[in-house]
Order: sequence, then structure tokens, then C-alpha cells
Amino acid sequence: MKNPLQKSFQTRAVHAGERVPPAEYRPVSTPIWPTVGYLYESMDDLDAVFAGTKPGQVYLRYSNPTVEAFETAVADLEMAEAAQAYGSGMAAIHASLLAAGVKAGASVVTALDVYGATFSLLRSLFKSLDVNIRTVNVTDHAEVEAVLKETSAVVLFVESISNPLLKIADLPALADIAHRNGASLLVDSTFASPYLINPLKHGADFVIHSATKYLSGHGDVLAGVVATSKENKNKLFELNKLIGGVLGPFEAWLALRGLKTLPLRMKQQCQNAQQVAEWLTKHPRVKKVNYPGLVDHPQHALAKNLFGGKGCGGVLSFELDGADKAQVYRFMESLTICLPATTLGDVYSLVLHPATSSHRSLTADERARVGIPDGLVRLSAGIETAEDILSDLESALAK
Ligand SMILES: Cc1ncc(COP(=O)(O)O)c(C=O)c1O
Repeated sequence: MKNPLQKSFQTRAVHAGERVPPAEYRPVSTPIWPTVGYLYESMDDLDAVFAGTKPGQVYLRYSNPTVEAFETAVADLEMAEAAQAYGSGMAAIHASLLAAGVKAGASVVTALDVYGATFSLLRSLFKSLDVNIRTVNVTDHAEVEAVLKETSAVVLFVESISNPLLKIADLPALADIAHRNGASLLVDSTFASPYLINPLKHGADFVIHSATKYLSGHGDVLAGVVATSKENKNKLFELNKLIGGVLGPFEAWLALRGLKTLPLRMKQQCQNAQQVAEWLTKHPRVKKVNYPGLVDHPQHALAKNLFGGKGCGGVLSFELDGADKAQVYRFMESLTICLPATTLGDVYSLVLHPATSSHRSLTADERARVGIPDGLVRLSAGIETAEDILSDLESALAK
């Protein structure tokens, strides 16, 4: 008869080396925990973890130690009570809207110039679900207040620095207007990152990041995160158990690793963007430069004040004088350091043509209304030496 302790080669191949008991030592940096489930001493223990009366993990769609480490780090940097991570920035935006009470019959007031997919999420998906969507110019506070009043909106949605026109949202004033009118303020702070501003300190209710960008910083992970109160986090957590837009442990680990150099990268990127913006304003082939660090930007003083003089972000946009789409494409193809890629916030300098990428989902009329001409280029400054970025732009503009 077979010895019950003597397992077959096949069974040992499956179980050998797994489930080693916790060690006495702790790793210095957070490990990746790629497990879906967890074992407990007893089923009663598992039951208590499910019930929330005992700390622990039950299932990867609910939470994960590596993901929780990333959430804890973001909450800390955003001065928030808590954070909830997602598999993308869009999932984070969608979840925040739901957690803030957006449902059939409700109204949302959004800044007109927001990331193209955010605009489409609101104007196509949410609208088709019977949510009333109104757009406003967030720099016109009287208009924002009037539309909030008229619609009794539950949400005012803005970007702290807008994509791609680099308008600055006056968060303290907008939080005040939103709350006076019974709306929550949702701030997509992807462009600013917590290096420049903590929107919750200025009255925001939810701060959203596409962590794909500055938080991770290396162009190798898609991630989203929302920083908010404990109460809102609980709503987001319960929603995500059902929707399942979770961040995986490997992606959380990459994002957590990226966070550590956020201040170093942002400092260099803000300096580079400032230098590039100033240089472009003097170039004869450039019609207009949008960058809040320029003294003639309409919200320069506001940006300096809100960002505490740490810089005005790493992104700028500029219009090539009289250029059509084909000419803009030739310019982008001539660049060798600034890479034409559909993202931003990386260590590499990146350029993008908003009309045919980030804002492609808008109709030509909508783009005209937002103010995105075919000659507009968005540049996300990397951490290279500014002089090398400038000479790359110089030679491409000459072509
Ligand atoms: C300002 C802003 N918010 C949200 C998103 C969406 O993020 P993700 O691509 O991670 O879903 C983007 C993407 O470019 C963005 O620029």
C-alpha cells in the first residue's frame, strides 16, 4: 500500500516550495505578491477577514499587499486619508464619478477642455445612461456657478492643469462654488502630480491620477489611483469589488517604484518645460505657446501661487504657424530626442498631436469649441538636458 506521506512526483511538482511560513526578517523594499487567494489557520479566521473584523486579504479583486503599499504611498503624498488603485486612469475616473453619486437622472458639470477620453466617457457613455452632461469654462466662475445651480449637479469635474491647453483650475474657489451648490469636486490632477499640488487640501473631494504618467514615470505601466476620504474610499472599494477594475500586483510594484523618484523627475521636467516654453515663444515658426510658467499666461500668478513656486508642470503645448496636419506630422517625425508617443509624464521627452490622438474622439466641431487646432503639438518634457531638447526642436523646426 502507498505511504500517504509519500506524494507523487506530479503532486510534488505542484506544491513543492509553496506556502513557506512567514519569516522573521522583513524585505527592505515591497515584494510583488502575485497571489489570488490566501490561506488561514481556520475557516473561522477567513470568515472574520471577509467580515472585516480581522485584518487580512481574501481575494485579488478585493485587495493585495503590493497594491495596498502603492495606495498607502499615494495617500501619503496626496495628504489623503486613503487611496484606491485601478488598472487605468480611465477606470479611476469612472469609479470616482459613480462613487460621487452620478446615476441616471443626475447632472455632471465638466470643464470643457479635459482629456479626450474623459470627455467621451461623459458625453457618450454617461449621457447614454441618462446622465445630463454640461460643459463650462472653468476659468469663468460665474458661468460654473450658474450651470451648477441650474442643473443641481452632483459633480463638478476639472483637471488641475488641463490637457492639452494647460489651463489652471482655481481649486479653492471651485471647491467653494461646488460645495455651496451641493456638488462634489472631482479633480484629475495627472498633469500636476502631488509634487505640485494636493487638491484635497484646497477642498477637492476626489483626486484622480492616471498613474500611467508622472506617478509611475517610465512609460512601462498602465495604472490609475484616487486619493480621498476614508468614507469615499470605502465606497470606491465596495464598487470595485463588483466592477473589478483592479491594478495588478506587478503593475503596482512598478508604480510604487516610480513614485520614489517623482520629486526628482518633476523638478527636472518643470525646469525643462519652462526653458522649452520660453525658447519656443521666440521662434518665428511658432504662433502660440500654452504654458502656465510663461509670464503672459493668463493664469501665471494663480499657477505660481497654487504650486508654491515649485514650477508649472512638465507639459506645454504650442501651435506651429500656418501648419496643417501633414506639416505637423513631418515636424514630429523629424525629432530624434522628443519621441512621438501617445502618452506623457515619462522620463523621455514626448510629443503628441492632440487633434489625432488624445482628442481624436472629439468631432471637428467639438475640437474647435475646445480650442484644439490641427497645428497644435503637445510636448511633455523628459529628464534629459534642456539644451539637447532645444537643439532637437531647432533642427526639426528648420526642416
Ligand atoms: C489628464 C488625463 N487623465 C486621464 C487619462 C487616462 O489615463 P489612462 O490612460 O491611464 O487610462 C489621461 C491619459 O492620457 C490623461 O492625460
